[in-house]
Amino acid sequence: MRLAIVGDVHELWDAEDAPLLDAEGYDAVLFVGDLAGYTVRGGLATARRIAALRTPAYCLPGNHDAVHALQLGAEIFPRWAPLRRVLGRRMPGRVEALREALGPVRLTGYALHDLGAFTLLAARPHSCGGPRLAYARYLRRAFGVEDMAGSAAKLRALVDRAPAERPLVVLAHDGPTGLGAERDAPCGRDFHPDGGDWGDPDLRAALDHAAATGKRVAAVCFGHMHHGLRGQGGDRRWQAREGPTLFVNAARVPRHGRRGRHHVALELEGGAARVEPRWLGPPVAR
Ligand SMILES: [Fe+2]
Repeated sequence: MRLAIVGDVHELWDAEDAPLLDAEGYDAVLFVGDLAGYTVRGGLATARRIAALRTPAYCLPGNHDAVHALQLGAEIFPRWAPLRRVLGRRMPGRVEALREALGPVRLTGYALHDLGAFTLLAARPHSCGGPRLAYARYLRRAFGVEDMAGSAAKLRALVDRAPAERPLVVLAHDGPTGLGAERDAPCGRDFHPDGGDWGDPDLRAALDHAAATGKRVAAVCFGHMHHGLRGQGGDRRWQAREGPTLFVNAARVPRHGRRGRHHVALELEGGAARVEPRWLGPPVAR
């Protein structure tokens, strides 16, 4: 089984991307989310171009998807918190518009998908990372999730429902807590001088539950925390391993550049996972 993991697109997907990726013959493509930049319109236009893919594909929305810039700002800046509820009012409609724009590419979240050799577990959609549940009003309306503990319970229930005989591959926007608190850790907080673990605690709870109940997790695929570190620069560690589980942060941003078009190839063989960064096509001028 060979999968392509596409990190945060942030609108960098043009007419060449779909045919180049299709030509690689992957069994499936996993989008970790953040197709959009800072506009709903840009996100929809990007989604329509992604819809040209012929390879079966899944997309877990990120914190930039189906939201407008002010709403994203209200989720990020504590002082804007009072605006969160009112700015999130139209989010269900925006998510449906994104789903429609993606065509055959399945928009997912809090779900299991049977991919034959393994089960795909789609984690919490629209994560901003860290301890706070982002877009809480939307998550309550769409999924009945009230808080971080409720999200963890929902993910644990998905683990319980997954068949035991096949490995799980997890698709998330942000990775789990526990991968390190250094700024360059796979989910390390690079936007704060002290660093810190900016992983999703509910996802960690689900992985602990999988380990405790004998469910094998071959790979956890995510993005959100871009490879290029803010401030002093440098690059993030984008993979990690815990026993049989491989953690992959695919957020090479910008994904278009002089090396071509970035994705990560994930190969699964007998429950063991291997990854390799890949660049397709000629250099892309930006
Ligand atoms: Fe993100």
